[in-house]
Amino acid sequence: MASIFAKRMQELGTETAFEVLAKAKALEKQGREIIHLEIGEPDFETPKNIRDAATKAMNAGYTHYVPAAGIPELREAVAEYISKTRHIDVKPEEVVVTPGAKPIIFFSILACVEVGNEVMYPNPGFPIYESMINFIGAKPVPMPLKEENNFAIDTEDTVKKISNKTKMIILNFPENPTGGVLTKENLEAIFDKVKNRDDLIIVSDEVYSRIIYEGEHRSIASFLGMKDKTVIIDGFSKTYAMTGWRLGYGAMRKDLAEKISQLMINSNSCTCAFSQMAGVEALRGPQEEAERMVEQFRRRREVIVSGLNKIDGITCKKPQATFYVFPNVKGLKIDSRKLPDFLLHNAGVAALSGTSFGEYGKGYMRLSFANSIPNIEKALKRMDEALKTL
Ligand SMILES: Cc1ncc(COP(=O)(O)O)c(C=O)c1O
Repeated sequence: MASIFAKRMQELGTETAFEVLAKAKALEKQGREIIHLEIGEPDFETPKNIRDAATKAMNAGYTHYVPAAGIPELREAVAEYISKTRHIDVKPEEVVVTPGAKPIIFFSILACVEVGNEVMYPNPGFPIYESMINFIGAKPVPMPLKEENNFAIDTEDTVKKISNKTKMIILNFPENPTGGVLTKENLEAIFDKVKNRDDLIIVSDEVYSRIIYEGEHRSIASFLGMKDKTVIIDGFSKTYAMTGWRLGYGAMRKDLAEKISQLMINSNSCTCAFSQMAGVEALRGPQEEAERMVEQFRRRREVIVSGLNKIDGITCKKPQATFYVFPNVKGLKIDSRKLPDFLLHNAGVAALSGTSFGEYGKGYMRLSFANSIPNIEKALKRMDEALKTL
């Protein structure tokens, strides 16, 4: 039968978190009480100083089109922030502001990757990477993240996979869904292998760079000569609890920033003006609220990790960063792919299968601990009880 859809739509993936959220909402409509541990967003309110800055901007007329690459104040604030935190010299013209960090992933691939090129990406990983790579007809080359490596990459395997066909390496550390971070050895090995390659670009998705519990965030862009080979992706959603504001950015060499701005002109035109003014306040204003959120996440991490480890058949490593745990559920009497549905219906807990993040997520589950301690405790109790009935 004839179809109205372009063939490429068959290659497009999705983010299961939104599907599970819809299922959970449908159950809630029927009167069920569901604890949401599926969606990756801070449960806190956006800090007041940021909300006030948006209101002020809206009343001051920031309600119209603005430049495609972002308003100058925000590009300056981002350049300053990235320069300071990554120890490199980023200029405002090397920054492109987008509605959330997500579009930078798609735009970087569209701008740099040809059909048939190889793109390396972490697996289990944020599902949008594999989806976009497949969508444009490139070849996805997974970098498996294993529990025995603390969910860092396997240096030897990764270095072996970087070939002449590799056009892009996507890194996402701290990582969603595992909470893993790159080791110094990982970074040095990648740096050594790519430092002389002018035809290869690294996309470093660092949206969790501020939600770290041990040690400091390290970006590959900080290595000598790597600034111009790296697209740093960061944003406001996770650090400042601003998921609904749709505000993020990429920092990259100027010629690529111009191409990505052109993709913005062809798609969104620009990013919401008053959201951008709120972004200036987020970066330049007081940081205590953002730090307080991390301290809350740290406490919740203890509760969820120790609770999960008490459930028969589940073992859980303590994530070094992010607000996700990625417990091993291979000891349960149920396939990890069927586990989220089982938990949703039998425990009223919304969670995601590890396979929602790629084939190497089999045997695992992702839970977000961006929820209150009483809710996390209740979810753990209900999960334990439901799993005992298997
Ligand atoms: C690894 C990663 N990158 C990018 C994003 C997108 O964030 P934003 O809301 O800024 O588009 C997410 C959101 O879940 C994420 O986990």
